[in-house]
Amino acid sequence: MSMKKLKIKYITMDSQAFRSYAHEFVDWMADYLEQVEKLPVKAQVEPGEIYRQIPEKAPLKGESMAEIFIDFMNIILPGMTHWQSPNFFAYFPANSSYPSVLAEMLTAALGAQCMKWETSPAAAELEEKMMEWLKDMTGLPKHFQGVIQDSASTATLVAILNAREKHSEYQVNEKGMKWFDSFRVYCSTETHSSIEKAVKVAGIGSQNLVKVGVDDRFSLDPGQLKQAIEADLKVGNKPICVVATLGTTGVTAIDPLSEIAKICSRYGIWLHVDAAFAGSALILPEFRWMIEGVEGADSFVFNPHKWLFTNFDCSAYFVKDETALIRTFEILPEYLKTTEAERVNNYRDWGVQLGRRFRALKLWFVIRSYGITELQKKLREHLRMAQELAGRIRETAGFQLMAPVPLNLVCFRYAPEGVPETSLNTLNMELMERLNRTGKIYLTQYEFIEKQQVTEDTVVVFDEAHYIKNPGDRSARGGWGQKYADRAHAVLFSTATPGDQAHHLMYARRIGLMEGMDESQWLTSMGMVL
Ligand SMILES: Cc1ncc(COP(=O)(O)O)c(C=O)c1O
Repeated sequence: MSMKKLKIKYITMDSQAFRSYAHEFVDWMADYLEQVEKLPVKAQVEPGEIYRQIPEKAPLKGESMAEIFIDFMNIILPGMTHWQSPNFFAYFPANSSYPSVLAEMLTAALGAQCMKWETSPAAAELEEKMMEWLKDMTGLPKHFQGVIQDSASTATLVAILNAREKHSEYQVNEKGMKWFDSFRVYCSTETHSSIEKAVKVAGIGSQNLVKVGVDDRFSLDPGQLKQAIEADLKVGNKPICVVATLGTTGVTAIDPLSEIAKICSRYGIWLHVDAAFAGSALILPEFRWMIEGVEGADSFVFNPHKWLFTNFDCSAYFVKDETALIRTFEILPEYLKTTEAERVNNYRDWGVQLGRRFRALKLWFVIRSYGITELQKKLREHLRMAQELAGRIRETAGFQLMAPVPLNLVCFRYAPEGVPETSLNTLNMELMERLNRTGKIYLTQYEFIEKQQVTEDTVVVFDEAHYIKNPGDRSARGGWGQKYADRAHAVLFSTATPGDQAHHLMYARRIGLMEGMDESQWLTSMGMVL
């Protein structure tokens, strides 16, 4: 990639200098996005390497943008992991797109702080409309109300705080947790760490997060959930919230929403749905089965910043009862009072933040620029590529698919003949680290606990504090005949969700690398020598 210096040199940054630099920056951005795959996808720097290159003290006198840009190129760029690279298969992606970047540029220029309607009426009303659009595009219930949060972690925290307040009749907000120390929250063992963080931050305590077992597709087992709730009720605990996941981080497992919703309704428990990644797939009618039963949910989050071509950050959070949400967060000092409060949405009261970015603009640009049909086409292509990759892995000797592929995440491992099971985790970790060091590809590891069929009298342990006490009682075990054995599998983890058309080609090429090769040729082609 060319390391062009800026052409223009201005001493002071006035409107003319800004205009010229901005044009050059846009050229640079277009070059960057066109050629990003030439850069090492994972930053190849040592800890401290960037820090040491930044001066100890901030400059007293201003420096020219040309100098600053040289340092951006020489110091910052080599220290970046390139999330928009078509060679990025790690984590869930943070898909960006040209229309989204353009909107973010305008957002930065407007520099608006959208805490309440009157501080940016267009931002508030566009946000309201974008949430309506997303609801319609994804098939979420019409009565849900939406708001944009910065991240799914924040949205889940907001949901758990709302559940806590509802179950304490808004008393914890007033008096603290003293009288409410028996609250319990439930999720599966495969749930994202943000749930535990939210439970901690909400003052409920991570020991009161009950991690329920999963079935052989890694989806939460509703029988075990019910059992855990009943065990808690028996000892006087108060179940307040269940978090169901659509598209778990490790293997994109989909929890059975309909059954979970019935359990929540029966026991009067708040149901929050974390669809951070998989939610975008709901724009495809053929994936709406994932939200069967969603009318029973109290809150739902998904991240357009993961798989809907909208720059980080942008989490769409929906609630059934916005009055309960506002009651949890509303605080009204004199300076925030407005005369039109009854007629508008003041989003400062719909979550933790007071100051808010204008995030709806990029969603508007993305949805209008592509249109629903093109967005659907892109997602279907990602899903097709994942199936193709999974198929190739199935057919390639020495590789194993480790989990079902319901969406666009493929979990596989290298398991060459003759290598004992006990060495495979280490082998795969080494393989992944060596692959990532090549700069040609970036994968993530995942580790899940293998389930084993066990005998009739196995005790199911579902969290540290609570055991099902009667191992002889089949109903107490739920009859799954499974237990979590003390054995974990590391798996490589790859998302088939690159950003744009050029990326599709790159991914296809990457798949092509496997064609007609055995695994050692494939690894060699990736710069690996085992
Ligand atoms: C299932 C799930 N939930 C929540 C999150 C957290 O998302 P965010 O980074 O928006 O907080 C992730 C992140 O990958 C996730 O996979």
